[in-house]
Amino acid sequence: MTDLSINLNKIALIRNSREGNYPDVVEFAKVCIDQGANGITVHPRPDQRHIRPDDVRRLAALVKPLTNVEFNVEGNPFAPAIGDYPGFIELVAETMPDQCTLVPDGDDQLTSDHGFDLTSSGEQLQPIIERLHSLGMRVSLFMDPDLAQIELAKEIGADRIELYTGPYAAAWGSDQLEPLFQQHLAAAELSTRLGMGVNAGHDLNLHNLAKFASIPNLLEVSIGHAFTVDSLSLGMAQTVQRYKALLG
Ligand code: PXP
Repeated sequence: MTDLSINLNKIALIRNSREGNYPDVVEFAKVCIDQGANGITVHPRPDQRHIRPDDVRRLAALVKPLTNVEFNVEGNPFAPAIGDYPGFIELVAETMPDQCTLVPDGDDQLTSDHGFDLTSSGEQLQPIIERLHSLGMRVSLFMDPDLAQIELAKEIGADRIELYTGPYAAAWGSDQLEPLFQQHLAAAELSTRLGMGVNAGHDLNLHNLAKFASIPNLLEVSIGHAFTVDSLSLGMAQTVQRYKALLG
């Protein structure tokens, strides 16, 4: 059984298009949790294009007392403090999610579009992972399905990897799909063998999720974009159930 963590960035994006707090991400997190979501994910960025620091604080207050739901905060560990954005690691240290997923994204990227190159950034990441461990949270690294890189993730102390599934999703329906799927399968098997858990995310949807979730020991998927779009037509409660059914 793979856990479903719902990424609520897009609810915040709609909210930010007006003044005020409508729609409220916390109210939608409650709907997801009521329908059996196993986790809530957010991705705060220095430009606050969607999730803002106060969203992270309010969602932490909602989710952390719940024993059966995890709070996952993902983002760039090197993102600095700007204005009322306290810096990614400071925000994580303040709000203490169950899991922190480190992602090598920049403000100039529309969305995360690659995993870490640990040959160049591993040395800088290691003390950050140690700090997060000392605070008591699980650390996951956003990774491409590259076996040599996954070995490095183990060496610098990651508890889990999150496989970047964007290329897998883009290959859906093409003859590139099967080779890409096999790469992810091999990456997941290596990670498991090394003692790291495996998560996955990006562009997963109601069509491509079941195949990806056939990967043994896939612990969690985080899904936001397609989930939000599906919620527009199906309603959020039913959308959670549809995604959960594919993971069951
Ligand atoms: N994982 C990471 C690291 C992400 O940045 C995102 C997008 O915020 C996701 C998973 C979820 O991707 P999507 O919104 O395409 O489902």
